[in-house]
Amino acid sequence: MTRYLLAIDQGTTSSRAIVFDQSGTSVAADQREFSQHFPSDGRVEHDAMEIWESILAVCRGALEKASVDASELAGIGITNQRETTVIWERATGKPIHHAIVWQDRRTASLCTKLKTDGHEDAVVERTGLLIDPYFSATKIAWILDNVEGARDRAEAGELAFGTIDSWLLWNLTGGRSHYTDASNASRTALFNIHEQRWDDELLSLFRVPRSLLPDVLDSAANYGETESHWLGAPVMVAGIAGDQQAALIGQACFKPGMAKSTYGTGCFLMVNTGAKALRSENRLLTTVAYRLDGKPCYAVEGSIFVAGAAMQWLRDGLKLIRHANESSTYAENVGVDNHVYLVPAFTGLGAPHWDPHARGAIMGLTRDTGIGEIVTAGLQSVCYQTKDLVRAIQNDGADLASLRVDGGMVVNDWLMQFLADILNVTVDRPRITETTALGAAYLAGLQTGVYDSLEQISELWECERQFHAEMRPALRESLYAGWLDAIERVCNN
Ligand code: G3P
Repeated sequence: MTRYLLAIDQGTTSSRAIVFDQSGTSVAADQREFSQHFPSDGRVEHDAMEIWESILAVCRGALEKASVDASELAGIGITNQRETTVIWERATGKPIHHAIVWQDRRTASLCTKLKTDGHEDAVVERTGLLIDPYFSATKIAWILDNVEGARDRAEAGELAFGTIDSWLLWNLTGGRSHYTDASNASRTALFNIHEQRWDDELLSLFRVPRSLLPDVLDSAANYGETESHWLGAPVMVAGIAGDQQAALIGQACFKPGMAKSTYGTGCFLMVNTGAKALRSENRLLTTVAYRLDGKPCYAVEGSIFVAGAAMQWLRDGLKLIRHANESSTYAENVGVDNHVYLVPAFTGLGAPHWDPHARGAIMGLTRDTGIGEIVTAGLQSVCYQTKDLVRAIQNDGADLASLRVDGGMVVNDWLMQFLADILNVTVDRPRITETTALGAAYLAGLQTGVYDSLEQISELWECERQFHAEMRPALRESLYAGWLDAIERVCNN
């Protein structure tokens, strides 16, 4: 009998659910976009209730399209946009504020103060992260300080905090399960990644009451059963991982040295470092990739805030293209030797620059610059930013022979070839590029016995196409030098 797995992939701009069969093939998927709220410069919010409703709808939609009954599911895996912070009332399940999204910069001045006061070292040492508005800790404190009565209610145990995984789990289980997994916990800046526990000193530094926090489980675990009325039958939530970690799993990067880069709203490059939490000297993050049977596997991560979102901006903001597909036609006409640079620092810059105050720019404009050059610069910015990360990784002593890619943008052959060329690394595109959802399904499958081991999962990975570096070194260097110059102009660091 075929056993199915349902993956919930709650991303920054859309909610998706995919039914997979045990060979890792997608049987049916459903997707919904939801509202983005931009209350003012640097602020990004989501309505957590709308997110939950969208997830319920896509889960039902995917099961219906797949003609699969909830009773035929071995389990559910959840993967999610990370760091995004929700606080809700335990008694009613109602959020007390919009979710503050990972991209939100409202706590930049608090972070600057904590850094100036000399706290960054302790945070890096314990969490593998830096002090930056990106992570959940200062977002939690902001909600507690800005919603009337919230701090007192939190101290009294009336409120719960969760990243999106915990929020969805709570709702799916009718408020019975308040858990997260180690990969999501490792993005809060409150979790000691070496000791695998919430860290009291960090809780006091960021002024976060412990009573708010979920318990932290392995990434494959019994997280509880869904209320039967949601999907028609109770189903075990059996796997949880942050979306970038899930993509690493979906790409079967289980051995130290294996790397993946995911191109969604942002771009996140991760290198598996195994049982060792490697500390970066080049402002990359150390994070929990996954935890199985109580054993954490670590990764080094480079996080870029804007990748696909730059193309969205060219489409919806500037209206230079009608569809993202058009970008490769422009790029083919313009060619790689384009000296217009678009630095998409719309919400500051992430790794390795970490400048929350930087803002975007287009540079190198001349009288003959047209739409084509700007659109091409948008695509190239994604690759240049990846190169910034790869250089940092190489400076940390890691060797990157090849890179597995995934996410919406990787269908663009021009982009993948330019990526291989500028990185001077072979780029491997897998047959299944839905690797984030697939990773969540694999975790649920490990817990429920659909898969016995990571080795078995590794065998399911197939390469669809390899892109080899072909660019002349001199051209590579001159193009990248132009990018570094552009970055220097927008950075305040
Ligand atoms: O850390 C933020 C990340 O998890 C968001 O991923 O795919 O929604 O851009 P994505």
